[in-house]
Amino acid sequence: MRSSDIVALHSGGASLVLEAGGERVPLWRHLGLSVDARDIPSIYRTRGRATFSMDADRAPDILPLPGDGSFLRAALLVCAKDGKALDLILDCTGIESGHDRLTCDFSDKKHGLEVRVDYRAVSGGFRIETSLENRGSAPLSVQHLASCSLPLPARCERIISWRGRHNAEFVECVEPMPQHGWSRETRRGLTGHGGPCGAYVLADGADHHSGLVFAAQLAWSGDSRIAIERDDEGFWTLQAEALIKPGEVTLEPGSSHSAPPVLLAISDAGRNGAMAIMHAMARAIARWPGGEMTPRPVHSNSWEAVYFAHDEKRIGELAEAAAAIGAERFVLDDGWFSGRGNDTAGLGDWIPDPAKYPDGLARIAERVRGLGMEFGLWVEPEMVNPESDLYRAHPDWALAIDGREPPTARNQLVLDMRREDVRDHLFERLDAILRSAPISYLKLDHNRDHSPSGGSEQIRGSYELFARLREAHPEVEIESCAGGGGRIDAGVLEYVHRFWTSDNIDALARIPMQRGFLAFMPPEFMGAHVGASPSHATGRVQSLDFRAAIACQGHFGIELDPAAMEQQEREKLAGWVRLYKEWRHLIHGGKVLLGEANDGLVWQAQGTDDELLLWVTRAGHAEDRRAQPVPLSFAKGADWQVRILRSAVSGGVLTPRATPFFHDLRDKPHGFAGSWLAHSGLPVPALPAESAMIFHLKAQR
Ligand code: GLA
Repeated sequence: MRSSDIVALHSGGASLVLEAGGERVPLWRHLGLSVDARDIPSIYRTRGRATFSMDADRAPDILPLPGDGSFLRAALLVCAKDGKALDLILDCTGIESGHDRLTCDFSDKKHGLEVRVDYRAVSGGFRIETSLENRGSAPLSVQHLASCSLPLPARCERIISWRGRHNAEFVECVEPMPQHGWSRETRRGLTGHGGPCGAYVLADGADHHSGLVFAAQLAWSGDSRIAIERDDEGFWTLQAEALIKPGEVTLEPGSSHSAPPVLLAISDAGRNGAMAIMHAMARAIARWPGGEMTPRPVHSNSWEAVYFAHDEKRIGELAEAAAAIGAERFVLDDGWFSGRGNDTAGLGDWIPDPAKYPDGLARIAERVRGLGMEFGLWVEPEMVNPESDLYRAHPDWALAIDGREPPTARNQLVLDMRREDVRDHLFERLDAILRSAPISYLKLDHNRDHSPSGGSEQIRGSYELFARLREAHPEVEIESCAGGGGRIDAGVLEYVHRFWTSDNIDALARIPMQRGFLAFMPPEFMGAHVGASPSHATGRVQSLDFRAAIACQGHFGIELDPAAMEQQEREKLAGWVRLYKEWRHLIHGGKVLLGEANDGLVWQAQGTDDELLLWVTRAGHAEDRRAQPVPLSFAKGADWQVRILRSAVSGGVLTPRATPFFHDLRDKPHGFAGSWLAHSGLPVPALPAESAMIFHLKAQR
């Protein structure tokens, strides 16, 4: 290698450019939109000198470490057995630059530590992995390891992140770029209800449709930190990492450790452009039974329909009612196993309750299958109720601090997934259940925070169990749930096929929440159900049409008892089930575009370049006298046939004030030029609060 070499990796419309310099750690030259980096001068020829700076100038590199003239937060902190931090000196031992991969290897010769930073071009984005190997003779203790250390340009303006709690997932937060530092740290032992460790960073006045956007998410289901730090160099550095407890990760000689991957999307097509790359990268992770996603079946979930009050007869009736309106997969939720009459007991005892299911699960599963539906089952393997046979037999299996009663949450404790015997036991139980009946779906729940914490090894233990389950039962689809949306991330996505977005299925609450979900995951993974009205989570009353229209944006399901509905409502719900089935090929697997119009209207389009469904949604009361057209920037470049597929307007099909044009638009499409739709906008009728209209748009090319 020459003394100064430029290496680049391109993905989609973005480039990552490094300047290698012999044995020194490569320097960042560019992370952003696609560039041609031929003949760029070495950074040291253009950067100039600054006062009160190192004489031997050190430009920002990909693995900042103290002692090397870098004053950023160290990407890596490793200690010796006596607890002393090691002064690492990393020499670059090799850079391999290929078409879709750039790998940099480093070695600290004194301590025998090898470090690898691996950048891959994946689905238009970058997947970054950092790993360590101890080739020395003494054990090393890893205190922290950033999964990435990325420069963000001075043009960045805002950070979009999400926070949340049970029943209020994905609350969007918009903050200016920090003058010092910004961080989002989670310490509850699981991903959390604010969504994955990740953020969108917006530059150049970016919005949903245009402008430079960086989006990152860590593929990890445990405690994490994402931080953006401003150094006086004049730009920002983003680091993301899984938090490691001191002493937790010991690298014995010969062993290795990998930080969870980071998914990075860079786009100049605004938030929607970055979101599309995120979706593509998430889709590349999912491993579907049979290799490919099948049409996402309509779910019927027993939870809000019957809660714990079920037995074989009751569930049989519920399944019949669900099948009659078109459900395709029936999920028997909590309450089926021994001792589980309520949430105070039973977790851990994974055998069917003989009082409720005297012959096990096979008979009810067969009955459900006989109705033309798949049979799915709820489990919460990582948990135990003190009031259970499992806990009585193994009180030492729960996470606890010696000499102290561990605190319960929802009357339960967390099993210590770091223990092999715990994992073996859980695998044996789950495997036996799956073999006992034709079960093709598991809803894998996790209903509390970890206190005390099991650290990052707890998460790795859970992953190991899930991997073993998937290997033994590759045909079984799995849903990740954690008190609703507490475990939605690209780490657990390796093992699952659906996320339960929230226990809050109030359609009004779901509008912003589902948009937050879509920042990280595509809609086919987004569990979205029609619940009862009043909503069990919020007490709000909403029309069936409105509830169903919002649920149709994701992987649709029902979570109520259709038999308890008025005949007319039941038929209406069956109509929504038909609509979802007819259009799911467009709703899932394609692109998603989000936008905002004036006076509180939001819109969302899902489909292909040539055909989309468009939701125009009004949550609150309009303040303006008339509805203004909705500009659809994506429509440029084609003529479109537009029609109304369904109106979910509380109090009627369309408002009495809607003009005949809109009534006609239900039966007959109208042709619009793309430029009109993009720059003037799609005319929409005045909508009352809590309504949605679903349009169908087809390009005429
Ligand atoms: C959690 C889930 C719900 C349901 C209950 C059962 O709250 O999010 O969907 O499965 O547990 O106890």
